[in-house]
Amino acid sequence: MKAFVKVLALALCVALIGGVFAGCTNTTTAPSTTDDATATTAAPVAGEELVMGTNAAFPPYEFTDDQGNVVGIDAEIAQAIADKLGMTLVIKDMEFDSLLTAVAGGSIDIVLAGLTVTEERKQSVNFTDTYAKGVQVIIVKEGSAIKSVDDLEGKTIGVQAGTTGDIYCTDDFGQENVKQFANGTLAVAALVNDQVDCVVIDNEPAKNFVAANAGLAILETAYTEEDYAAAIAKENTELLDKVNAAMAELKADGTIDAIIGKYITAE
Ligand code: ARG
Repeated sequence: MKAFVKVLALALCVALIGGVFAGCTNTTTAPSTTDDATATTAAPVAGEELVMGTNAAFPPYEFTDDQGNVVGIDAEIAQAIADKLGMTLVIKDMEFDSLLTAVAGGSIDIVLAGLTVTEERKQSVNFTDTYAKGVQVIIVKEGSAIKSVDDLEGKTIGVQAGTTGDIYCTDDFGQENVKQFANGTLAVAALVNDQVDCVVIDNEPAKNFVAANAGLAILETAYTEEDYAAAIAKENTELLDKVNAAMAELKADGTIDAIIGKYITAE
């Protein structure tokens, strides 16, 4: 019996490793936390993968480190959830635009991407409980004529395609005034090069982009306030329940606050 368990475990490992390498393209596995207790127990059920989709140009929620690993608040929260559920976290870096279709279609299990809960998105996916708040802010060049939301009328606004900043600006100021970019980094580069007059994006990434580019500023007046949550396919209510339960524990024991506090210093 014992030998059988060993053989089974070995077979599982081989299958797993095979799976990891087979899906290698464009997939980064977050550094798995080595937990000696789990490593030595009889059943290495590091088994099931939790495949998270994100768009890793959104610091401090997700970005790539020098080794090309996706790191940040969402990556760490997802790792903590996977650890609690005894699952192996795999992170896929994708276009923001395709995340919800991917999770609804089952090619990924969960989206953590500083993703805002909206009524429209709730039509296609389920959201977990929220774990953070976001604010859409306006980045301008220092000394810009744009001083508040009211000045956006008729200006060229850079956004990340498919984000709430994109959706709200398109609604409020018209599609002809909104220029979509694949991610925030590109939108901000366009602002630096005077291809757009401002960028509407979430506040924490905005702070990172402004810190990384001289001559930019964030306007005091916010555009909208939002809640971030993870998204899961509608039919996968089993995973939704598990993730919510894990999240509740991670909130209660201070893990989520500690992860956020690592990246965001309270003003
Ligand atoms: N909070 C915004 C939204 O949900 C922007 C999120 C962008 N996230 C990213 N990882 N690029 O639409």
